Amino acid sequence: MIERDGARISLWQDTVPAFEPASVISKEKYDVVIAGGGMTGLTLALQLQQHGLKCIVLEAQNIGFGTTGGTTAHLNTLLDTPYTRIIKNFGMESARVVASATRAALQLVKDNIDQYNISCGFEEAPGFLFSQTDDQQKELEDIYDACVDVGVEVELTGAIPVPFAFNKAIRIPRQARFHPLRYLQGIAGVFEKEGGAIVQHCRVISCERLNDSGKVLKVETSEGNFLADHLVYATHIPPGINILHLRCPAYRSYAIAVKLEDDSYPEGLIYDMYDPYRYYRTQEIDGTRYLIAGGEDHKTGEESNTSGRFLKLESHVRSHFNVAEVVHQWSSQYFEPVDGLPYIGHLPGNPDNVYVATGYGGNGITYSHVAALLLRSLILGYENPYGEVFHPGRVKPVAGFAEFVKHNADVVKQLAGKWFSKEELHELAGLAPGEGKVVQYEEHTLALYKDDAGALHAVNPACTHLKCSVRWNAAEKSWDCPCHGSRFSFDGEVLTGPAVTNLEPAEIRSLETEEKMR
Ligand code: FES
Repeated sequence: MIERDGARISLWQDTVPAFEPASVISKEKYDVVIAGGGMTGLTLALQLQQHGLKCIVLEAQNIGFGTTGGTTAHLNTLLDTPYTRIIKNFGMESARVVASATRAALQLVKDNIDQYNISCGFEEAPGFLFSQTDDQQKELEDIYDACVDVGVEVELTGAIPVPFAFNKAIRIPRQARFHPLRYLQGIAGVFEKEGGAIVQHCRVISCERLNDSGKVLKVETSEGNFLADHLVYATHIPPGINILHLRCPAYRSYAIAVKLEDDSYPEGLIYDMYDPYRYYRTQEIDGTRYLIAGGEDHKTGEESNTSGRFLKLESHVRSHFNVAEVVHQWSSQYFEPVDGLPYIGHLPGNPDNVYVATGYGGNGITYSHVAALLLRSLILGYENPYGEVFHPGRVKPVAGFAEFVKHNADVVKQLAGKWFSKEELHELAGLAPGEGKVVQYEEHTLALYKDDAGALHAVNPACTHLKCSVRWNAAEKSWDCPCHGSRFSFDGEVLTGPAVTNLEPAEIRSLETEEKMR
């Protein structure tokens, strides 16, 4: 099993072995360093390696650790941002480009699977979107018209494959589903065979030009420096401090995988129209079928009862399906672009050979492949029709951003040389095993967690990105930052950027032991 950025175990994690890279690492310059061993990073790496570039993927944890290990893996051309909104925000021509890019992305997945014989349960299946109120019906009719206008295959249908009452529905042919981690590990294996290198447990921290005149980049990582002609941040959100963090708020989404008593596993990828919406699909893994349902989304760090979201989702599924067993429950993160489309291309505020792909919303598998196609062209110097519509440079400068960053970017350190009494903290916090909370202790604020064995773990709650106070996520046993979505383990290790530095640890000592030692 591989590790993921939370305590819950996803269906995908539980059904793959750990990935052991077989790469030979060179200290010579690489053509491309890719930060992030998820769907975007490895798909792009393979594309570039096949074009003769020497690439290395540096993953801060293990490949698939981030949202690739927690997605529900819908491959769709019907996007979370409806084409009605894309047309309104970007115009008809751009919306047609988006539709064509998503179709090309699905084709790339299929081509990879066929060409490299990747066994990952891939199946094409239709998508369904259904309305249940008059307002939703009007919205659905507009979405149908917009799909027709931009060239997405779509038809009205009188039947949907889930047992819900509905007043109208559309069917979108040739969507798809697969096991994302089996696909990812397949791609990683081919990439290494083609001469590419993968390093796990190597966090990219920053980069700068090697010298003023040249274009070569010095990429600083937790395992030393690498030289490269290009750097791609395929880290879901770029690390450090960037204007894109103000344009991509972070959300959590919840998923469960259940076995049914009967054979009513729905064919297709199915979505209702509530906000947040719920989604359903079936996946067969090693001869066993699972119904996967998701939803209950909220902004990261803004829900105090994260475990309750699973209960709501489960109760909803049980009220419509004959559930025999809930096999897995897990949550994952996505970054929602404020204008509705991802940011793929040059990373604003960086040298022109530094790139980013972020803001996928709930369409990460599709957009990761759009990003692979687009970034491949940018790095190889080819024209690409998708370049303009996804260009991160479309973000307008924010007044005062530079001062804001300067003011907030001091290193967060308050606890050095201090220690806290274990007995007093136990009494003050009154935590049950497995619980965490932010507490005030004398003049200090601590993020305190009591593990299942009763031991306390304390860290400074000031997020190391821009100092917001983290909040406890009981479902995933993590400290989540409500400002830009950084997440940390219960003892402060970075799970999700943009932060690159762990939360400051606080030392806890037993008064009893201290006294005995005096
Ligand atoms: Fe920006 Fe925490 S993620 S302050």
